Amino acid sequence: MPQTSKKFAEIDPVWSRIREEAQEVVKREPLLASFVHATVLNHRRLEQALGYHLAQKLGSLEVPAILVREVFDECYAEAPDVTAAARADLVAIHERDPACRTHLQPLLFFKGFQAVQAQRVGNWLWLGKRWELALFLQSRVSELFGVDAHPAARIGRGIMIDHASGVVIGETTVIEDDVSILHGVTLGGTGKDVGQRHPTVRRGVMIGAGAKILGDVEIGECSKVASGSVVTKDVPPRTTVAGVPAKVIGETNCTNSPSLVMDQRLEVSGDYSI
Ligand SMILES: CC(C)(COP(=O)(O)OP(=O)(O)OC[C@H]1O[C@@H](n2cnc3c(N)ncnc32)[C@H](O)[C@@H]1OP(=O)(O)O)[C@@H](O)C(=O)NCCC(=O)NCCS
Repeated sequence: MPQTSKKFAEIDPVWSRIREEAQEVVKREPLLASFVHATVLNHRRLEQALGYHLAQKLGSLEVPAILVREVFDECYAEAPDVTAAARADLVAIHERDPACRTHLQPLLFFKGFQAVQAQRVGNWLWLGKRWELALFLQSRVSELFGVDAHPAARIGRGIMIDHASGVVIGETTVIEDDVSILHGVTLGGTGKDVGQRHPTVRRGVMIGAGAKILGDVEIGECSKVASGSVVTKDVPPRTTVAGVPAKVIGETNCTNSPSLVMDQRLEVSGDYSI
């Protein structure tokens, strides 16, 4: 490996890996060469690739991709934690999703990953009181990716939203690090409360397909919510619940948190140029 590439791989291992994987795809699948160059290989940093790729998808006739890209670039320049979280998400998806072969695949193709990255930028806009632009992003993400996630929701890192279709994340939802959410999940309100009215999902939780978690309830650390469950009460840590209404069916543990392990390597900062 040339010296500059080696140095770069140490600084940003996720991006370095993605570029290698992209080069492999260009060799293996020449039909996708232009696409892979435009989305990955033409960019020097993950931030630029993400901004380009998501802006191409989220732009509209009235708000063209070039303007959306400026917003992403501004966010990434001001809030490096947003793309540190993206790197942790890529690592988590690669570790947890048996259908995910490379770190490149979620970046290019997985709408759950893309939706979370757009929500993070929307959250940055929301906190900066640019509410309408944040809501514009939310509505485009909902139309395109089937994930309706309010920009005010607080989402940690190492997040996997698998398959993504039909996911709703309400305004006052909190999702801590290392959480996996399958398709059809609602983290919603009951319609009876105002203010804090959506779930808090603690670290390491898995929420199965179609589960509905409603109200200001807490899903304890490393717990599992079985597919199709309806949860309206707190779930203790390290517990599996299932059914309608959800009942405790077992215990879990907190043995792995792959994205946190990777985070330590991502703390290195420096010159990202290649
Ligand atoms: C809950 C889950 C994590 C399994 O947990 P587990 O602790 O291994 O539980 P088990 O499989 O041993 O099942 C324990 C009991 O709960 C029941 N159970 C499991 N999942 C259930 C569900 N979704 N709804 C209702 N009951 C369920 C089982 O039938 C079993 O009942 P029994 O003791 O009367 O036989 C798993 O069933 C689940 O829902 N995973 C989500 C998968 C998903 O969303 N897949 C979509 C992929 S696209």
